[in-house]
Amino acid sequence: MKTLTKREGPIRLAFFDTKPYDREYFDVHKNNYNVEIKYYPVKLSADTASLARGYDAVCAFVNDELDAATADILVEGGVQLVAMRCAGYNNVDLKAIWGRLHVVRVPAYSPHAVAEHAVALLLTLNRRIHKAYVRTKEGNFTLSGLVGFDLYGKTAGIIGTGQIGRIAAEIFRGFGMDVLASDPYPNEIWAAETGVRYVSMEDLFRQSDVVSLHCPLTPENHHLINDKSLSWMKKNAIIINTGRGALIDTKALIHALKTNSLGGAALDVYEEEDEYFFEDHSTSVIKDDVLARLLTFPNVLITSHQAFLTHEALTAIATTTLGNIQNYFETGDLTNEICYRCTQKTCSRKETGRCF
Ligand code: NAI
Repeated sequence: MKTLTKREGPIRLAFFDTKPYDREYFDVHKNNYNVEIKYYPVKLSADTASLARGYDAVCAFVNDELDAATADILVEGGVQLVAMRCAGYNNVDLKAIWGRLHVVRVPAYSPHAVAEHAVALLLTLNRRIHKAYVRTKEGNFTLSGLVGFDLYGKTAGIIGTGQIGRIAAEIFRGFGMDVLASDPYPNEIWAAETGVRYVSMEDLFRQSDVVSLHCPLTPENHHLINDKSLSWMKKNAIIINTGRGALIDTKALIHALKTNSLGGAALDVYEEEDEYFFEDHSTSVIKDDVLARLLTFPNVLITSHQAFLTHEALTAIATTTLGNIQNYFETGDLTNEICYRCTQKTCSRKETGRCF
């Protein structure tokens, strides 16, 4: 593994894919850390990585491209650390990067922010709040077409009972819903305390009125929602995805919606989102026909990967990221490192609680 090269003066950080809210929160907190930040609006990729030449670290987000070619340029330019300002890392080619650059992340910033957004999406879609808002703004006070269903007494299926999934499950329990869950590592004690039942994935799909995705995107989970799993779902069920876009095979979802075999979809993420999300395309033509088709459905609600966007989460993202960077350069501490061996289940640090 690469060893730390200490340097004099502040740590130099090249910050990619900067948005105004990133800058606002990092600027508020950076003075508490020995870090000097250069903000770049462009995404990090092999085409832009040379902007980080001479910097100690780069800060990247969910749609930056951390592949082998990007890593080559970063290493060659003297970068030692990649600080992801997010929890998910499916856009990082850990195999290519491991041993050349350390990659740290923010393992938890506000699981409440994401879980609450999932519930907000469900309530909005189910009770047609987005349509009612537009209608009343235009002086249309009719109610036809706005019929929803009570959540009380219905069944919610949670896929992935990690930090976010457990909070979502508890909120759904608060509505008086039955909650089913699926996770390769079930948390039976929590489930017993919360009144949640672990079932097989097939049973979860067959029995749930609402299915909410809270697992990471891994090669095994790619297109977890596909023709087969959709065929198991109730005709009026709603899917919520605040996980990652490619958990859903979007073409299969569109087919289910077109054939009225699904009640609706509330999506904060989309598998090809990096082309569109976080940017204003309101004056240009959307060339992604799948996204364009999705946007036409009255029973699809899309937000642009905003589940994390709360004051608390942005504060935690800024302070944890700056702390990750300072800790590494001052003491070599890599508590929040994303460990490639861990993803291969051969990590010796797992027992110490340092990985995941
Ligand atoms: P976590 O690591 O605490 O929990 C993930 C859970 O999913 C684990 O218990 C794991 O065992 C489980 N899991 C893995 N594969 C599964 C499968 N095939 N079926 C069922 N369960 C499975 O992660 P956390 O913090 O709860 O975040 C979950 C995901 O949410 C992240 O990986 C990220 O992709 C997404 N996320 C989205 C955000 C947004 O703004 N939309 C913000 C933060 C996270």
